[in-house]
Order: sequence, then structure tokens, then C-alpha cells
Amino acid sequence: MNVTMIGSGYVGLVSGACFAEFGAHVTCLDVDKKKIADLNTGKIPIYEPGLENLVRENIRKGQLQFTDSYGDFIGQSDLVFIAVGTPSRHGDGHADLTYVYKAARELAKHLRGYTVVVDKSTVPIGTAKHVKRIIAEENPAADFDVASNPEFLREGAAISDFMRPDRVVIGVETERAAALLRELYRPLNLIETPIVTTGLESAELIKYAANAFLATKISFINEISMLCEAVGADVHAVAKGMGLDGRIGRKFLHVGPGYGGSCFPKDTKALVRIAQENGATIRIVESVIEVNEAQKARMINKIRNALGGSVTGKTLSVLGLTFKPETDDMRDAPALTILPKLLDNGAIIRAHDPKGMNEARTVLPETVRYFDDIYATLEQADAVIILTEWNAYRGLDLARIKKNMRGSVFLDLRNIYEPARMRELGFEYHCIGRL
Ligand code: UDX
Repeated sequence: MNVTMIGSGYVGLVSGACFAEFGAHVTCLDVDKKKIADLNTGKIPIYEPGLENLVRENIRKGQLQFTDSYGDFIGQSDLVFIAVGTPSRHGDGHADLTYVYKAARELAKHLRGYTVVVDKSTVPIGTAKHVKRIIAEENPAADFDVASNPEFLREGAAISDFMRPDRVVIGVETERAAALLRELYRPLNLIETPIVTTGLESAELIKYAANAFLATKISFINEISMLCEAVGADVHAVAKGMGLDGRIGRKFLHVGPGYGGSCFPKDTKALVRIAQENGATIRIVESVIEVNEAQKARMINKIRNALGGSVTGKTLSVLGLTFKPETDDMRDAPALTILPKLLDNGAIIRAHDPKGMNEARTVLPETVRYFDDIYATLEQADAVIILTEWNAYRGLDLARIKKNMRGSVFLDLRNIYEPARMRELGFEYHCIGRL
């Protein structure tokens, strides 16, 4: 089976490499010539555990190749995936579909024989039908179907999410298109992966609804944590006690400084816009977005209060900048809201992140100082702030930190450490939703 993957960003690259591993002949296409030249030598533009090996191995086996030209392989493909970026349009929260439509227009010219054109990017409901109109307009003779096949990959765990998904969603208009997609995913039959086959609109909505629901769980527990602090309850116990109810589930009930990343912030906003445009309100998701913003603001207050009401002139050592561990992605990371505010209030910021510092330098104010060594970051600190729960921060030499820092404030915004133990060590320990 021949597959072309248009867009060699996060989704395109992971999906392309995994389809190659499934046994398809995959060509990943991107208009960025430098990226394609790098990829052809096995050089990966992002950090994702396992991806580099998978790409190299499949290039070696002849299953995977890269091109910057639309003319090369689309004509030989059974399936053409559109996996280009859909950033939030400035100002209005809409997903920007410029790249999706451009890809549709370009690929249309090169179709030969029956082909299924599949949206893999997260796109508003109705996009697959629009892509269909564009292709028919550009190439009236083309023999094709459109489909929607949303991805549910978590950064940092994308390969295993792809190889062992909870389900695969296939939105189609014809049985012929469904059969081709099922054939592509056939290796997953071995592990009895449910394949949900629906219409185009349902598949498109499933992706938004799933992400909005997960974001809801996070905002819910973040709000409950505030109440825990007020009444003296422990949010971990509450989350566990709730989550063991099979109807609720334990996952995504972990408190933090607010969700970030390339999906939840963008998709929740887009869903609200889609609902408004269709005359429906979706008040829960509107609140989820508000609560997430409030959570980041609450973290700024927590930091300020822990330092006696002002951060002016205080040295804050920040561990973790990316929106979550095992990624170098800074998109919508809470650090982008929290750190500039602390700097504006006169704080001095020293920062460390195992993978995100290069990216952080381009998006955080330039007054942030970066350190390659965790312990060097923490020297002379008035306060330590854990913003992202990287494994490297889970087993810190706490006695050494206590000895070398100036103050004793430890703000653990991912609740990694045990409050009683931290206080025994002499820290003024602050976390979320636990006293
Ligand atoms: C998410 C979805 O999980 C994935 O299915 C979708 O396709 C893309 O968006 P990702 O953005 O990679 O994946 O990360 P995820 O692990 O879901 O975390 C998102 C954010 O929520 C992070 O900022 C994380 O720190 C936060 N989070 C997650 C919490 O604060 N608490 C939790 O319990 C879980």
C-alpha cells in the first residue's frame, strides 16, 4: 500500500513513520526543503522518544522516504494524508485552514487512479467536505473519496499511542474508502483495537470533543484543588477516590499549573467558536478555558505569597519550561504566562529544562538566564519552582539544594514531593491542593 503524508510536522512525521512500520510504503512530503534534506539523512526536527530510531530504521528498510515535491509520489498513492499545521488564527480562536486548503489544491493536480484523501490534522467540522469540493474543482476528472482520521497522540508518548491506540476513528462517505483505511490499520487487529467507522462530521467532532473532555477533567481537578486548600483536604486523595469510579476514570485528574501544548488550548477555543457559529453554546468548554487561565494566574499569586507578598529583587530558580515532560515543545506552556509576569514584577529568573531551553530562548523574555546543570540553576535561589515534572526533578538531592540556596521556599507546582518530608528537610514547601 502506498501512502503520501503531506506535512512533516509532529503528526505527519509520527504517523508517516508508524504507517511505514505497519508495512506501508510511505512518502512524507513537506515544502520546507531544509527539513526534508535533514530528514533524508535521518535527522529529526523535534524531540520525541523513539521517533529518530523508527525513522532511520524505516528509511533503511526502504519503507519511508521524504520529498519536497508534490509531483513525486501522489500519483502512485492509494491514500494521501493531509497532516499540515492548523494554528489558532490570531484574535478569533478559529483554526487556520490556509495550509490544509493549499495542500488540497496542490495534491488535486497529481491524483491518478482511485485515491482516498484523508484529513489527519485537527480541523473544524465540515473541512473534509470542503477539501472534497476543492479537489473536485481543481481536478474534475479525479477519482477520489475524502476521509477523516483524527490522531490522538500525546507528545512524549506518540509512538506507543500510535502503535497501541485505545481506538482508531475513521470518518468516511463510502465503504470503499473505509476498506482502504481499515487495510492500512490491519496490524492493529492483532491487538484487537476497536475501529470506529462514522460519517465525516462525527469523526471531525470526536477529536474536538475528546480533547475538550480531557481538558475539562484537568480544569475540574484544578478547581477542586482550590477548595481542597480552603477546607484542608488532599487533592490526591480526592482524585483517587473519584477516579476509582469506573465511570470517571483516574487519568487526567492530576493538578498542575494549567494545561498547555499544541492541542488542548487550541482545540477548546476552536470548539467554542464552532459551537457559536452553529448556533449552539458550549458553556462547559468556555468555563474550562477560563479556569485554565485562572489557574495560571493563581500560580503567580501562589509564588508571590510564598515570597512574602512580592517577588521584586528575588531570585527564582525554575525547573521545567516545556508544557509537559518528554518534549521540547513550548507551545502554550504555562511558563509563557507565568515567567514574564514574575519578571515584570522584578524577579530574577534562572531556568533549567532538559530539552526545552533552545525553544524557550526564542519565546521567553531574554532576561531569563539558562543553566545546563540543575544544581547550578538552584544556587543562591530565594525560591525553587518546579513547573514541569521531568523525571530528572523527581530524585533531586534535596539536602544539597537546601544548603546551596539562599532562601528556603520550594514551590512544587506538579506535586512531586511529599509535604511532610520537605518540611522535615527545612523547606517552606508549597504545592497545589494539599497542605
Ligand atoms: C493531548 C491529548 O492527550 C492527545 O490525545 C491529543 O491528540 C493531543 O493533545 P498532549 O498535548 O501531547 O496530548 O499532552 P497531554 O499529555 O494530554 O497533556 C496536555 C496538558 O495537560 C499538559 O500541559 C499536561 O501537563 C496537562 N495535564 C495532563 C495536567 O495538567 N493534568 C493531567 O492530569 C494531565
